[in-house]
Amino acid sequence: MTDKRKVIFDTDIGDDDAVALAACLLSEKVEIIGITTVHGNLPIECASDNALRMVDFFKKDIKVYQGCSQPLVRHLNKGRKQTTLMQTVNTVVDGKLIRIHAETLPLPEATSKLEKNHAVSFIVDTLRSTTEKIDICAIGPLTNIGAALILDKDIIKNIGNIYIMGGGLYKGNRTPIAEANFYDDPEAAEIVLNCGANVFVCPLEACELGATYTREDLDTIKALNNPAADLVYNVLDGYINRGIILFGGKQECCVYDYAAVAPLLDENVNTEVRKDVAHVDFSGGMADGQLVIDRRNFGLWTENANIIYQQDGKRVHNLLINLLKKFK
Ligand code: RIB
Ligand code: CA
Repeated sequence: MTDKRKVIFDTDIGDDDAVALAACLLSEKVEIIGITTVHGNLPIECASDNALRMVDFFKKDIKVYQGCSQPLVRHLNKGRKQTTLMQTVNTVVDGKLIRIHAETLPLPEATSKLEKNHAVSFIVDTLRSTTEKIDICAIGPLTNIGAALILDKDIIKNIGNIYIMGGGLYKGNRTPIAEANFYDDPEAAEIVLNCGANVFVCPLEACELGATYTREDLDTIKALNNPAADLVYNVLDGYINRGIILFGGKQECCVYDYAAVAPLLDENVNTEVRKDVAHVDFSGGMADGQLVIDRRNFGLWTENANIIYQQDGKRVHNLLINLLKKFK
């Protein structure tokens, strides 16, 4: 048995997801046993196509399963959006739709095909039949994982760790207080954070400490001069450019999802983690999707999620450089 950790990689593969996936595919620490796509950044068909392009580019024999194209229940209440202070994630420029995430990654068309099995079936069947613990990287809305846990809660006994990009400690991005992945499916987020598995949550603030990339950082990546480095450079170059069109701001971006999976590849990237009582608001009000951490220390409720408060940005950046150098 190899000492590689087996991983199910659940993603709404947009730009930062692609960097997270590239890092995992290049690492000798993990073996991705399946990629599952979920709604979120992009229409699910785009996410699935991007995932297939990535496995072909990295020449990996990894199956891709398409998952849920909509959240568990939030979409049923059409009036649920409770704030006008919504982040715009797309716009039209000269008649062309610009999304913050590229609909198609800058990679050749995929030759691999999607599996027929639904992503949630793959997750449940794999976790029921495995003889060893399997980790989950969950870097989009948690709909697939939440649905799997509804289908069979006992699968948690075969889950190692769940690495989640989600939530904000003191801010949001999609709304003033809710982060996109949790906002897009708050009920699924609440289910996963409280499922009893060992959950690590990397909120916006920790991601920004770990994985903020400037133009200078991109030039360092470009200088590696290999196809994987070129891919990351091109993806993040586009991510920065579209971010400026949509949000204005500086010539930099945060590669949120890479920060969230980095601890799986090097646990020392986290410099402050605390197990907290953590929930997600799904009441449909102004704070819909907010990560709520109870810091009152009453001792009345079990701490249920490892919240990452600090990451060592230098270590996170060096990790990606060293992984990209491995590309063959
Ligand atoms: O809020 C950031 C998260 O939302 C990232 O996972 C990004 O890919 C988007 O899904
Ligand atoms: Ca994502």
